[in-house]
Amino acid sequence: MAKAVAEVVVIGAGTMGHGIAQVCAQSGRRVALHDTDAHALAPAKERIAANLEGGIRRGKITEQARDSTLERIVLAEDLHDATTRADLVVEAIVEDLDVKRQLFARLAAAAPADAILASNTSSLSIAGIAEGLPHPERVVGMHFFNPVHIMKLVEVVVHEGTSDAARDAVLEVARSMGKDPIVVQDSPGFASSRLGVVLGLEAMRMVEQGVASVEDIDKAMKLGYGHPMGPLQLTDLVGLDVRLAIAEFLHSTLKSDQYAPPRILRDKVAAGKLGKKSGHGFYDWKD
Ligand code: NAI
Repeated sequence: MAKAVAEVVVIGAGTMGHGIAQVCAQSGRRVALHDTDAHALAPAKERIAANLEGGIRRGKITEQARDSTLERIVLAEDLHDATTRADLVVEAIVEDLDVKRQLFARLAAAAPADAILASNTSSLSIAGIAEGLPHPERVVGMHFFNPVHIMKLVEVVVHEGTSDAARDAVLEVARSMGKDPIVVQDSPGFASSRLGVVLGLEAMRMVEQGVASVEDIDKAMKLGYGHPMGPLQLTDLVGLDVRLAIAEFLHSTLKSDQYAPPRILRDKVAAGKLGKKSGHGFYDWKD
């Protein structure tokens, strides 16, 4: 039987972390949400509350479920304190292997020896994150999609040393959240980003070449291919900085020019146009 997971720590309270904390709490687990930027914590809880309000408006959840979900989430400024009783830690911090490795070394020291350590990385090597840790068998990828409380997919990424017990435990956690998980071997970009990023980067090259407007390129994929959202709008939702980091990593590991970050992506990131979270990207998001 898979390990029972009652206490979850989510690290990183940004676009993904707040959503992961929400779905963990909605599945009945107690959640501690931590971020190195203490100012990110209260807004993250407000975003969760707003998501839950939306759920009430759409008739998906009750007011009572909203209240109990919010009660199960604590904001944790101290990483060590938050982690000492964890059954599962889900990391959703910046997409940078060195930064993630430093964090996992701290987690491995603070968390109970049988706690599962999961990364929400979109592309990086899970084996790379686990390398050098005392118990690499408990390290696994748990790749959620944006917005986390809506999207059904979770990629469970196993590296060669991931134990079956850790894999099965996170599969069970994902299913208990109402998600539909898949198991993917540890390879750059997994099953989702490896394909999805190609589409997003090609759409940017088409903007650079003046093939069509941003809106019309997105419309082509929505109306012509049945995508719920165009690749440029999705890039704005993901965050241009996040997409750039993933593209750079895939370009360096898969050695294919289809992953070379286009100039327009680099320029927008340098100008602070990071997509929805900053108010501007390929679209304007300020209301
Ligand atoms: P974000 O930039 O919105 O949030 C990251 C948060 O992590 C920030 O609040 C930051 O203060 C915090 N942080 C940075 N370093 C930290 C550390 N050492 N310890 C604790 N907190 C730290 O980033 P986002 O978009 O939520 O991405 C997080 C991870 O999720 C990345 O690995 C990304 O590739 C992945 N991901 C992102 C998706 C997206 O649509 N944005 C989709 C799926 C995965």
